[in-house]
Amino acid sequence: MTKPLDGIKIIDFTHVQAGPACTQLLAWFGADVIKVERPGSGDVTRNQLRDIPDADALYFTMLNSNKKSLTLDTKKPEGKEVLEKLIRESDVLVENFGPGALDRMGFSWERLNELNPKMIVASVKGFSDGHHYDDLKVYENVAQCAGGAASTTGFWDGPPTISAAALGDSNTGMHLAIGILTALLGREKTGKGQKVAVSMQDSVLNLCRVKLRDQQRLERVGYLEEYPQYPHGEFGDVVPRGGNAGGGGQPGWVLKCKGWETDSNAYIYFTIQGHAWEPICKALGKPEWIDDPAYKTAEARQPHIFEIFKTIEGWLADKTKFEAVDILRKFDIPCAPVLTMKELANDPSLRASGTIVEVPHSKRGSYLTVGSPIKFSDMKPEVTASPLLGEHTDEVLASLGYSKQDIFNLREVKAV
Ligand code: COA
Repeated sequence: MTKPLDGIKIIDFTHVQAGPACTQLLAWFGADVIKVERPGSGDVTRNQLRDIPDADALYFTMLNSNKKSLTLDTKKPEGKEVLEKLIRESDVLVENFGPGALDRMGFSWERLNELNPKMIVASVKGFSDGHHYDDLKVYENVAQCAGGAASTTGFWDGPPTISAAALGDSNTGMHLAIGILTALLGREKTGKGQKVAVSMQDSVLNLCRVKLRDQQRLERVGYLEEYPQYPHGEFGDVVPRGGNAGGGGQPGWVLKCKGWETDSNAYIYFTIQGHAWEPICKALGKPEWIDDPAYKTAEARQPHIFEIFKTIEGWLADKTKFEAVDILRKFDIPCAPVLTMKELANDPSLRASGTIVEVPHSKRGSYLTVGSPIKFSDMKPEVTASPLLGEHTDEVLASLGYSKQDIFNLREVKAV
């Protein structure tokens, strides 16, 4: 089956998570992604948190599927020469080195543009160019702190908290993928490549825009009616942490179900959607709440919302999280069980849709990974194993016109 990005050649100069997540997505959609790695070691995640000795770690395999691996020392003159050839033939170069690393290697934007004016050069950095922190190296949790996620996540009486979701890493990679695809479309019109830059701070902040909304609301009216602090607690002058409160106009909370005493995930998320109040009362067996002035409107409920949640927990006490959702779904109430990674890994619906996939790997046997969360009517992205270090070096070099002797010579000087 042909894929939309067939024929797009990408030099994948990425490592760890943010860059690899971006190029993996493009590889699923058909791009020819050549991961350039340092001979002997490769991407640091090949060795990080290994669960099988001598086999690539899951951190690597789950972010580098469908790619080729070319080992190349791009600091050696012979390696630079190979890279230049590759640049002349490629459509996109993606990198997420520390600030200035590509320039120090001799491949500034100006030089890349000179080598191939049609090429798109896409970068992830911790902070955007010109930012007062633009010299900093950044990892996931640093970005969550710098982008506003940490100060607004967690409970009000606890410290700033990091989300398990990779808001700084994979999220930035997804932003970059959108930038690359946009630049590729732009190139169709202009014939020119361009530089695409995404910072981790900006990408986190983009996902926290409702908190910037709340900052402005707080400054105008002095309180935030959907936060647990309202109306009994104090508001300061910055958006507080709101625990598990809903982020929109719908109050919600994580509620205990049967078995919570021994199972730390026996919970559901329950949302009190304004117009669903009547079905909620019916589902809970509380018809008297429907027209009671103390319960009828969102404003009336808010001062005693936790009392309402307590009552709902009473209703949930003899129901598992799955039984509860099966009842509530019939009343059109937005809710879900709190699912564990074990439950997700074995979820038949996620397996059937290709969101959880099992990938055969020559060294590991097989491993589970998350497949494309984007579904198409005319294409089913297949996930293939991540490459072994240097698995495609000979193939890529041959495609660039290097003879067997040339490749031997490059190996002799440890350039590949
Ligand atoms: N051949 C030769 N040298 C290579 C090479 C290759 N194939 N690939 C990389 N290198 C070199 C680079 O040129 C650079 O050398 P230099 O610092 O002497 O110029 C070095 O390896 C890599 O440096 P750097 O990217 O800074 O690695 P690091 O391990 O010190 O830092 C990060 C890691 C992730 C903190 C840093 O890359 C970073 O801040 N990246 C931008 C933000 C980001 O993506 N963060 C991670 C999100 S998962």
